[in-house]
Amino acid sequence: MAETKSGGVRRQDDLAKRPGESDEQSAQRTAIARRLAHIRRKVIVLSGKGGVGKSTVAANIAVAAAQAGVRTGLLDVDIHGPSIPRLLGLEGVRASAEGDHLLPVPAGENLKVMSIGFLVGGRDQPIIWRGPMKFSMIRQFLADVDWGELDLLVIDCPPGTGDEPLSVVQLIRDADGAIVVTTPQKLAVDDVRRAVTFCRELSLPILGVIENMSGFACPKCGEVSEVFGSGGGESMAADMQIPFIGRIPIDPRISASGDAGRPAVAEAGAVAGAEVFLRAAEIAAGR
Ligand SMILES: Nc1ncnc2c1ncn2[C@@H]1O[C@H](COP(=O)(O)OP(=O)(O)O)[C@@H](O)[C@H]1O
Ligand SMILES: [Mg+2]
Repeated sequence: MAETKSGGVRRQDDLAKRPGESDEQSAQRTAIARRLAHIRRKVIVLSGKGGVGKSTVAANIAVAAAQAGVRTGLLDVDIHGPSIPRLLGLEGVRASAEGDHLLPVPAGENLKVMSIGFLVGGRDQPIIWRGPMKFSMIRQFLADVDWGELDLLVIDCPPGTGDEPLSVVQLIRDADGAIVVTTPQKLAVDDVRRAVTFCRELSLPILGVIENMSGFACPKCGEVSEVFGSGGGESMAADMQIPFIGRIPIDPRISASGDAGRPAVAEAGAVAGAEVFLRAAEIAAGR
């Protein structure tokens, strides 16, 4: 792998076979590039750690974009906790195969979904992959899904800045950028700094930061009270000179709508922070 000046690993931009790569790996990398060639924009949703609302944000961005007429795909590559099937009411659905490729599952007008959860396990079955199997699984998965023509692919990446998100970003070599999700607490903000450094080392442009769980929106009066504080993500974004998209408060309707399999932006009646999901969808779609 090519080293950058900062010692990081650069994304791979040519299709020639690399030293140390097997024929199969090289063929899969070429297959991934071919599969993704008919997708106008690819945006990766990242977080410094789990549990900050990354999948919730990815699902709402995808649904908002689809509602705006953008032909959208939502790809869940979180191999440990694939939560997209539940968030979209597609639990228990199995992906179908046609020849050598997997077909994404339609989820309403303009939206197709693929998740590792459609291939393996049930809700209560944890997915345990040993080291090398994980990476060949991710590679194979990216190479096999046939999306057809899309305007936008939203990718729910594994959390953190370890080997798994690294392999996803390296395999999706011409991604247009990342949307980074954080919560306002100091520790989460430190994690997101690492995520920002990770993107910079991989030359992945940062489209913006979303501060989620920023205060609590009272379901009765709508007033937002600060629970863990707020503004940490925003000041970090200013410090690191990256765009800040907005804050989404904790709103019980956001988690309830996720549990019900209908992302908040698809519900009638605006939830707190809905405009942030809509703005993020515009940014993701390049509008
Ligand atoms: N703004 C919010 N308000 C209320 N609940 C939220 C909000 N964002 C996320 N959640 C809930 O928090 C939990 C974790 O969110 P999830 O999107 O699965 O996080 P991640 O993908 O980062 O692990 C879920 O139960 C989700 O419904
Ligand atoms: Mg998740």
